[in-house]
Amino acid sequence: MRLTEYVHLCLEKRLSKGDCVLDATAGKGYDTLKSAQLVQPNGQVIALDIQEEAIKATEEKLTQAGLNTLCEFHLGNHGEVLKEITQTFDCILFNLGYLPGSDKTTITTPKNTLSALNQCQNLLKANGILFVTAYRQHQGGLEEASVVENWMHRKTAKKWFIQTVNPAKAETDLYPILWIASKSFLNLPIYSSDKHE
Ligand SMILES: C[S@@+](CC[C@H](N)C(=O)[O-])C[C@H]1O[C@@H](n2cnc3c(N)ncnc32)[C@H](O)[C@@H]1O
Repeated sequence: MRLTEYVHLCLEKRLSKGDCVLDATAGKGYDTLKSAQLVQPNGQVIALDIQEEAIKATEEKLTQAGLNTLCEFHLGNHGEVLKEITQTFDCILFNLGYLPGSDKTTITTPKNTLSALNQCQNLLKANGILFVTAYRQHQGGLEEASVVENWMHRKTAKKWFIQTVNPAKAETDLYPILWIASKSFLNLPIYSSDKHE
């Protein structure tokens, strides 16, 4: 199972109508769409991306699905924009890296990711859930994953519940890796590792 599929499986279990979701890396809009489908008709999804192309693709996807009125689309850097947000969320999603199919010049960075994660402490509801998927094969990806890992360790010390999904079979395998974090107990579906991303 791909990590992206597993995240959607978890969303199916955790989200329900009326919930509020923040997608901090909207990309092509797959996670925004899945979230909107699960929280409709009275929930809300805020989709954020630093690239106009991504915001347009996401808005288009949501419009096609008739779910755009549930969503707010924001163009900006999550490292900065999250500092301005005051509401809290049932779920926050980060799918790091670059926009699939792009020239890979715009990419999430350790500095912005760390700044955004630090904001998430206040933005996540007590029973809310945070997903961070990191990719380690591109330049800078390993460093970014390590920043996320350290952040998650610090949360463990603060009694957060953290689950790591790492399909790698050896230390040298640089497959995508997923962290799921919450201030409350995590009751999640089993990850099936028969296929990886
Ligand atoms: C792997 S893609 C996300 C895929 C997306 N979740 C989906 O379902 O299609 C990563 C996205 O992060 C965006 N990104 C990179 N740096 C960012 C930043 N500082 N703030 C917000 N978005 C950023 C990229 O533009 C790219 O669209």
